[in-house]
Amino acid sequence: MARILIVDDEPGVREVLRRLVAAEGHVATVTGDTTAARAELGSGSFELILCDVNLPGESGLELVHEVVAGDTEVAVLMVSGADDPQLAETALGLGAYGYIVKPFRNSEVNIGIANALRRRRLEIENKAHHERLEQLVAERTAELGRSREETIHRLARAAELRDHETGQHIERVSRCSQLIAQRLGLPPDRCELLRIASPLHDIGKIAIPDSILHKPGPLTDDERRIVETHTELGHTILADSREPLIQLGAEIAWTHHERFDGGGYPRSLVGDEIPLAGRIVAVADVFDALVSDRVYRSALPVEEVVHTMRAEQGAHFDPEALEALLSAIPEAIAIRDRFRDEERHMRLIPAPRHSEGPPVGSPSLVLPNVRTSVSRSV
Ligand SMILES: [Fe+2]
Ligand SMILES: [Fe+2]
Repeated sequence: MARILIVDDEPGVREVLRRLVAAEGHVATVTGDTTAARAELGSGSFELILCDVNLPGESGLELVHEVVAGDTEVAVLMVSGADDPQLAETALGLGAYGYIVKPFRNSEVNIGIANALRRRRLEIENKAHHERLEQLVAERTAELGRSREETIHRLARAAELRDHETGQHIERVSRCSQLIAQRLGLPPDRCELLRIASPLHDIGKIAIPDSILHKPGPLTDDERRIVETHTELGHTILADSREPLIQLGAEIAWTHHERFDGGGYPRSLVGDEIPLAGRIVAVADVFDALVSDRVYRSALPVEEVVHTMRAEQGAHFDPEALEALLSAIPEAIAIRDRFRDEERHMRLIPAPRHSEGPPVGSPSLVLPNVRTSVSRSV
């Protein structure tokens, strides 16, 4: 049983159609013009409209156009006195399901109604099926993205743990890099890519021998040079990928110890020669090293960190990337507090055997005010 709206200005035709519709077990509502039809469509729901073309004041085609464009699920069947192929084509082009010419045979109308209702049902089912498929694809894509992100994250965590860092450190650097990118006005998808790829910055530490990475006391020049190769090793591990995410990880691993003034490593790049992602992660990595508690020292006061980093603006750090961070200190501190290291994790991390400084893989921090506490870092 369907609810069918009949729109025809001839009372005789309306009545014939009403009886035909009722005889098939459907519920009919009859109107004589488009204004009344619109009122009925506005107040009730219909599966089908049987619509005349020549109506007083307005063509039935206007109504068809409106109904179809309105994205409703109402099917339309034209019933017209004009046996005009051009008009029929126009009506079908507008979205009508059929075009019946008056005078009609009853069976013609019945078949037309049955076909229109069947086609409408199939289209609705088809649409629902498509929506389900789209939702499924979206869910699977999100699932794939999450699993890819987790794999990257755990890989990065493995590298950080070797160097007395916690999983929370890479989470903080990741969020902070994203924050800087946002403040710099990078597109949202680029910021998101940076958030996911930045934890890979120290992945090359995986390949640095324990004897050097965990060496107590100062490093020799040769040992320091070996530690510095974690940038190139990280790049080698991630290079030649077709995945933009891994490509970005490779770029960051390679460049996060470059300095804006050209005094960094491994290639002594200067200013804009350093990819922006590397310049951003350099700021985020150093910031986190200073504002967070580490196994070898407590966090420095925020004012001191700001002062210290600003002193390196344009020297160690890209001025704009640093400015972006400094303009968002409350948000950056909120990231630190949200991803604070749990004490049980800190206990799991063996403290460095040397007492005078941080582990050798820490970010490049030969900064004036904190020289004593980080002088061993590279
Ligand atoms: Fe590093
Ligand atoms: Fe780091």
